[in-house]
Amino acid sequence: MKALITGASSGMGRDMAFYLASLGYDVILVARREQRLKEIAKEINSKDGGQAFYVECDLSKRKECVRLYKLVKGEKIDLLINNAGFGYHGYFSEIPLSKELEMIETNIAAVHILTKLFLKDMMKRNRGQILNVASSAGFLPGPMLNTYYATKNYVLRFSEGIYEELRRQGSAVKISVLCPGPVKTEFDKVAHVNFSLSGMKSEAVAKYAIDQTLKGKLVIIPGITMKVGLFFRRFVSEKILLKASYNIQKRKS
Ligand SMILES: NC(=O)c1ccc[n+]([C@@H]2O[C@H](COP(=O)([O-])OP(=O)(O)OC[C@H]3O[C@@H](n4cnc5c(N)ncnc54)[C@H](OP(=O)(O)O)[C@@H]3O)[C@@H](O)[C@H]2O)c1
Repeated sequence: MKALITGASSGMGRDMAFYLASLGYDVILVARREQRLKEIAKEINSKDGGQAFYVECDLSKRKECVRLYKLVKGEKIDLLINNAGFGYHGYFSEIPLSKELEMIETNIAAVHILTKLFLKDMMKRNRGQILNVASSAGFLPGPMLNTYYATKNYVLRFSEGIYEELRRQGSAVKISVLCPGPVKTEFDKVAHVNFSLSGMKSEAVAKYAIDQTLKGKLVIIPGITMKVGLFFRRFVSEKILLKASYNIQKRKS
């Protein structure tokens, strides 16, 4: 079995790679920081389980997404994990446009392109799974992390729609979408967040995400707090949600 994991140089992507290798999967690690990928691959290869390989790739560039696909398409990937992504904290009027466009390319376009290319091959083989990493932000509006929240809304709805199409087409291919709340990774540092909410452990979220994906679960929400919170979200008006969301994000300034 083979898995390709984007954003595998840190955080949840790295931990999903370690867990999948322990289950016997060969893993292809993808990110920009080559030295990190090299070290993670070395550590995985020193343990029992699947073998690790890596591809340095900047997924904010569409040509690079296609290059990645062409490089590995012969490998017959069983599990594609679109995990690479980042946020950027601040007022929409103050965040540089270039940063937001880079985010839209990484969090949306790369997920879209890789899902399209790999899904078509999986459908031909009538076998394979995709896990797209959204966020609990995917269920919400997000003042102060506005573009990030909007990208995760896209990933959630996009993945849900494909799930239903695959079901109606009678395909054995499955798609899942991961929607965690805060997780302790490098996310906050990259997003320029100074004060962070206490988060779940990345290893625990990674293991839960993979176990649920392999069971064919559509929307994966780790942790009881987030499950309860998102359940009650449906009884709250948009304006109250907006105020609550702003107050949470503003505290991170
Ligand atoms: N941490 C949280 O609280 C949280 C909650 C919900 C959802 N998420 C989502 O979970 C996913 C993983 O994030 P994380 O929390 O594990 O954060 P992280 O530790 O910062 O990891 C992000 C990963 O994405 C990669 N990446 C970013 N831009 C890339 C690009 N242009 N090309 C290739 N790789 C790129 C990074 O690698 P390089 O820098 O080496 O390229 C890194 O491996 C993200 O999609 C994030 O939005 C996070």
